[in-house]
Amino acid sequence: MSKKSVLFVCLGNICRSPAAEAIFRDMVAKEKLIELFHIDSAGTSGHHAGERADARMIKTAAHRGIDVTSISRQFVSEDFKRFDYIIVMDDSNYQNVISLDPQGEYGHKVSKMTDYSSGKFASYDKVPDPYWGGEDGFDLVLDLLTDASEGLLANLK
Ligand code: 4NP
Repeated sequence: MSKKSVLFVCLGNICRSPAAEAIFRDMVAKEKLIELFHIDSAGTSGHHAGERADARMIKTAAHRGIDVTSISRQFVSEDFKRFDYIIVMDDSNYQNVISLDPQGEYGHKVSKMTDYSSGKFASYDKVPDPYWGGEDGFDLVLDLLTDASEGLLANLK
């Protein structure tokens, strides 16, 4: 397998995409494939740039043994060149990312996390934003991301 770079993208880069980054990295490490991947995350908004992930997400993920460590940064056009796979969480993220590629050169690199969902999560067409909701939202996000990460890794292998 050749080295692959994967960028997870949400709105703020403090809830969903940092968790996706951490879950996917954990899965890849457990399969002893970490040297073959470059894994990162970003937000379409720079509103939370420089911040750690949301404390609720860090705590909920920690309960599952997942360490969410990323510092928020904004998605930039250069990411289209730097990454092989750009994986967004919902349709709004998709539109925001695609709008930075007016020539349509990189659309083939962009997919939605739920494209890789299976089983009871197959019917989801987005990873719902948990920011304004209760604790349950964070657990659902982690369930969805864990399931989709398995599908994504199988797809990339
Ligand atoms: P994320 O969640 O896109 O999963 O990081 C959000 C974080 C912050 C805001 C919205 C969504 N916000 O409006 O500040």
